[in-house]
Amino acid sequence: MLRGDWSYPTSVRFGAGRVCELAETIKSIGMTNPLLVTDPNLAAMPMVEHALGVLDAAGISAKVFCDIRPNPVEANIRAGIAAFRALRHDGIIALGGGSALDAGKLIAFMAGQSRPIWDFEDIDDFWTRADAERIAPVVAVPTTAGTGSEVGRAAVVTNAAIQTKKIIFHPRMLPKAAICDPELTLGMPPMLTAGTGMDALSHCLEAYCVPSYHPLADGIAIEGMRLVKENLARAVQGGGDIEARASMMAAAVAGATAFQKGLGAIHALSHPIGALHDTHHGLTNAVLIPYVLAFNRKAVEEKIRRVAAYLGLRPSFRAFLDWMLELRATIDVPHTLAGLDVGDRNIDRVVAMAVEDPTAPGNPVPLDKRAARTIFKRALEGRI
Ligand SMILES: NC(=O)c1ccc[n+]([C@@H]2O[C@H](COP(=O)([O-])OP(=O)(O)OC[C@H]3O[C@@H](n4cnc5c(N)ncnc54)[C@H](O)[C@@H]3O)[C@@H](O)[C@H]2O)c1
Ligand SMILES: [Fe+2]
Repeated sequence: MLRGDWSYPTSVRFGAGRVCELAETIKSIGMTNPLLVTDPNLAAMPMVEHALGVLDAAGISAKVFCDIRPNPVEANIRAGIAAFRALRHDGIIALGGGSALDAGKLIAFMAGQSRPIWDFEDIDDFWTRADAERIAPVVAVPTTAGTGSEVGRAAVVTNAAIQTKKIIFHPRMLPKAAICDPELTLGMPPMLTAGTGMDALSHCLEAYCVPSYHPLADGIAIEGMRLVKENLARAVQGGGDIEARASMMAAAVAGATAFQKGLGAIHALSHPIGALHDTHHGLTNAVLIPYVLAFNRKAVEEKIRRVAAYLGLRPSFRAFLDWMLELRATIDVPHTLAGLDVGDRNIDRVVAMAVEDPTAPGNPVPLDKRAARTIFKRALEGRI
């Protein structure tokens, strides 16, 4: 039985069926009048109705806010803040994939602030500008297994005016509690399962490759990669495999826990590509992974050899790269960006935005414009 109660990086109730503990979870953190934030697609699915039923049975009548698009924009957050304030809610239940979780976290964060959201971008110590006492609590309930936003201290939102995905950070944006119930992911279609699973893998891989000293994050990252290796193809091919679904949900938690250490060029390129082409974040990462890995080879070869051994592969960089390519092919991830309808039209903007992305400094090889251009072109042309 893959079930556990964890207390890092936050309080996590992990296990199939545990969404039925939603009411006691919100009560345990003193929330009495929650706003449930989700997206319109999920709002029409039985899982939201079920969650509301669980709350109702405990005497809690939650309102639903679902005006959220995939890759949420600031207007979604503003509308959510208005809904939050209108009925004097005292906390948020964020239920959904990364888009709904991030939107919920941002509404809870911004509802009590007076400065614009962009003042809290993940740069230097910008987060200290926030009034931390006025951040509302969040209970996160993920329905995908990838972003790990349920255990993350940041959220991603698009600044539509400049078509840029921005990372907003505050340590207290970390949800007070998360319910990780893999049953909620059983209905994910194969492409979404593949894309979100590769997001989890890219978090583990990039965090592990950041050159700074953090053996704790590294340990979590390599176990996350093992979980992906043993379970992602199973989850894509057999959507109803609850054990594979649970393991992928744990891999997502591992990825976001590990990436407190940092990320790298996969995310630095994926953010502008997603902002300019509205591609799915995880799928974009999935395409980029081998190109970035090969580009970083010299700086990470020894580390990758070690993780290859842990994964039961021949202890070599090549074996790890080959496994990655094989996994991508097995779960039908396109080999080039063209497979996501991304061409070279925006190359100059992607390159300029990638080097400015807050994830860029984590890359083991400095990500200057030349490096970003090289990786982007290789991912367009299919040259590893
Ligand atoms: N906060 C972070 O640290 C972090 C990390 C990585 C990515 N992100 C962000 O998360 C977002 C991507 O999140 P995502 O990959 O989870 O996808 P998503 O939340 O954008 O959802 C994609 C689609 O899948 C649907 N969906 C969600 N759960 C489903 C289920 N169980 N069954 C069927 N359909 C379901 C949604 O309704 C939506 O239509 C991006 O905006 C990305 O930038 C955030
Ligand atoms: Fe990601």
